[in-house]
Amino acid sequence: MTDQLYKTMNDGHKIPVVGLGTWKSEPGDSTYNAVLASINAGYRHIDTARAYDNESDVGRAVNDAEVPRDDLFITTKLWNKDQGYQTALEACEKSLARLDCDYIDLYLIHWPLKELRNDSWRAFIELQEKGLCKSIGVSNFTIDNLKELEAKYGILPAINQVEFHPYHYQKELLEYCNFKNIIIEAYSPLVHAKRMDEPRLVAISDELSKTPAQVLIRWAMQRGMVVLPKSVNQNRIIENFAVFDFEISDSLMKRLDDLDERFVTCWDPHNPPPYAPV
Ligand SMILES: NC(=O)c1ccc[n+]([C@@H]2O[C@H](COP(=O)([O-])OP(=O)(O)OC[C@H]3O[C@@H](n4cnc5c(N)ncnc54)[C@H](OP(=O)(O)O)[C@@H]3O)[C@@H](O)[C@H]2O)c1
Repeated sequence: MTDQLYKTMNDGHKIPVVGLGTWKSEPGDSTYNAVLASINAGYRHIDTARAYDNESDVGRAVNDAEVPRDDLFITTKLWNKDQGYQTALEACEKSLARLDCDYIDLYLIHWPLKELRNDSWRAFIELQEKGLCKSIGVSNFTIDNLKELEAKYGILPAINQVEFHPYHYQKELLEYCNFKNIIIEAYSPLVHAKRMDEPRLVAISDELSKTPAQVLIRWAMQRGMVVLPKSVNQNRIIENFAVFDFEISDSLMKRLDDLDERFVTCWDPHNPPPYAPV
């Protein structure tokens, strides 16, 4: 393990800084092939979720890969309909069965469901104590949500996985998480492919002789985050991992910071839907 490729979480476990996203990766061979291609390209970290309906394909690829399970880092997430104490315990067992593995490296509460997130967190603490999940964390949590969890349980998540890219630069949340030693995982780091042709990004990419995707991934790495680009395309999977051999200068980092327009491509925890997503 090199320091360049891994960060150490507040529970002492290491996490690879670039992971393959799998949201909207079709269940079946599409996900299976993408995960195998990523492992062959050097990725050691895969991000899935109960809600993506592809845990079993991720598990199949992980078991078929020529890399030992202990060298891989698998994240999955507790979906809203399973939130609560007992239901979370049971949901974890089911995810483990679908993934066909003995432990999950990182288990996340997918969404801060108001009525149930605290009970879910109580189950997560137990799952970690039992060794079924090596690390536990949350996703889409606001600063207030994190404060509530800390006040109630005193055990902070290792990770908060949130939407993060230069067009949605959540500086205050990043600074709070840095202060609390919670690593931010940047989801939709490629802006869900909605800004690849944006002229200011293209200009910076040209200056660096890198692709817009590589610049977006590298920006998040240099801001101290773990990054989760998704692709099912083998060439893009390789492209998105070729981000360890260059550095973005301070002045270009600042120009990227300035792209912020609070552009949310996914769901917004500060403006949640009137119903709980299920
Ligand atoms: N916790 C949460 O609530 C949450 C929410 C959203 C996402 N996530 C996680 O974060 C991951 C990434 O986010 P995301 O899937 O929303 O979006 P993303 O990674 O920002 O973008 C994915 C899109 O970019 C395309 N793409 C990938 N590499 C590219 C490249 N080099 N050049 C041009 N286009 C490229 C992909 O198409 P192809 O596949 O065709 O290459 C896909 O359409 C998810 O897959 C999931 O694991 C978590």
